[in-house]
Amino acid sequence: MDSIVVTGNGALTGAIPIAGAKNACLTLMPATLLSEEPLTLTNAPRLSDIATMTQLLRSLGAEVASLQDGLVLAMSSHDISNHTADYDIVRKMRASILVLGPMLARDGHAVVSLPGGCAIGARPVDLHLRALEAMGATLDLRDGYIHAKAPGGRLKGAVFEFPFVSVGATENALMAATLAKGTTVLKNAAREPEIADLARCLRKMGAQIEGEGTSTLTIQGVDRLNGATHPVVTDRIELGTYMLVPAICGGEIECLGGRMDLVGAFAEKLDEAGVSVTETERGLKVSRKNGQVRAVNVTTEPFPGFPTDLQAQMMALLCTASGTSVLEEKIFENRFMHAPELIRMGARIDVHGGTARVTGVDKLRGARVMATDLRASVSLILAGLAAEGETVVSRVYHLDRGYERVEEKLRACGAQIERISA
Ligand code: UD1
Repeated sequence: MDSIVVTGNGALTGAIPIAGAKNACLTLMPATLLSEEPLTLTNAPRLSDIATMTQLLRSLGAEVASLQDGLVLAMSSHDISNHTADYDIVRKMRASILVLGPMLARDGHAVVSLPGGCAIGARPVDLHLRALEAMGATLDLRDGYIHAKAPGGRLKGAVFEFPFVSVGATENALMAATLAKGTTVLKNAAREPEIADLARCLRKMGAQIEGEGTSTLTIQGVDRLNGATHPVVTDRIELGTYMLVPAICGGEIECLGGRMDLVGAFAEKLDEAGVSVTETERGLKVSRKNGQVRAVNVTTEPFPGFPTDLQAQMMALLCTASGTSVLEEKIFENRFMHAPELIRMGARIDVHGGTARVTGVDKLRGARVMATDLRASVSLILAGLAAEGETVVSRVYHLDRGYERVEEKLRACGAQIERISA
């Protein structure tokens, strides 16, 4: 199993290219199942989660070619030859549930393994299922699988209000509604940029969608969708992560391809903490305003609020800020697993339920730490960049799910970081 060794090396300066969004790509890929014609994605990130989705789509009969070193995914689902998403693939990645809506909408039936829990919380899929049921699907849960059927072979338009905001459930329902008979109105829909990106791609495929980027999506179902070519939107979580590098280490980093509209609430918090973010022609430039970073309070919320996927990385920054910060995690019930690891590096953190109090220390110290999930793993790398001495982060397979070429990108800015294979 690989580990990453980071040695704190002072201020870092340079430019970091930001990849296409993992979470957008993972919902755009299943959209290929909606059409008999090819769907090509450009600006795809090179990540193990994308390889897992490729494997899943191929198991269903789709052709997926990875071109230009993985930056382009050329997909074609002329026939769906197998309508069962197997447990062995689904258990690796929860986003696998996103094949359910498209298969059911196109062919009227689908069988998908229940994804099960994961380290950051129970993460049920009940909202995905309720939205599909509202569109007429009959669902039978047995042997760990969701057996879904559309009576008469086609879903029908419906008005469905999500009881609370879910990114994945909105995506599944949106894709399903594009081929349903009649009009679907999804209320209290998630507004994440990845959903707007999905809506843009579906529209290029011929879908009729209104309201993207708002909490009400109106979809007029069509009989069939065409092929399309679509560039994956910039990864706002990778962007936010690298914006934290000069905040935590000093120096100045320009995040190439970064956009303020993708990270509004996060950039506001950085500003409050004493970190300046400016728009350039190439992206976003970030540096400390003057010396020390100050404590700030953070509450995670659905977009456009502060993203849960940047909470762990923000905590790493606040470990060395002056004063006490309070972080409230409102999206997932168990998302502070990075805290005990940061404490091993000398951080002062008290966790009570969904709230963490972080009191800044002068210096973190390098230690052996363990990555527990994707965003936690990168928070430990950020902490390691700011720490005295050597930090060894083990279980970096979590990191490889969501960050491509981390070592290379950070080394180009002067970081001492390397991967060791055990
Ligand atoms: C997506 C992102 C993930 C991010 C999360 C929140 C992808 C592949 N993953 O995950 O990186 O952290 O959004 O921004 O895009 N819930 C239910 N029932 C459901 C669905 C969700 O109770 O049917 C709960 C979840 O347990 C969680 C909350 O709703 O507490 C929000 O989850 P959701 O927005 O659905 O997250 P994902 O789509 O799984």
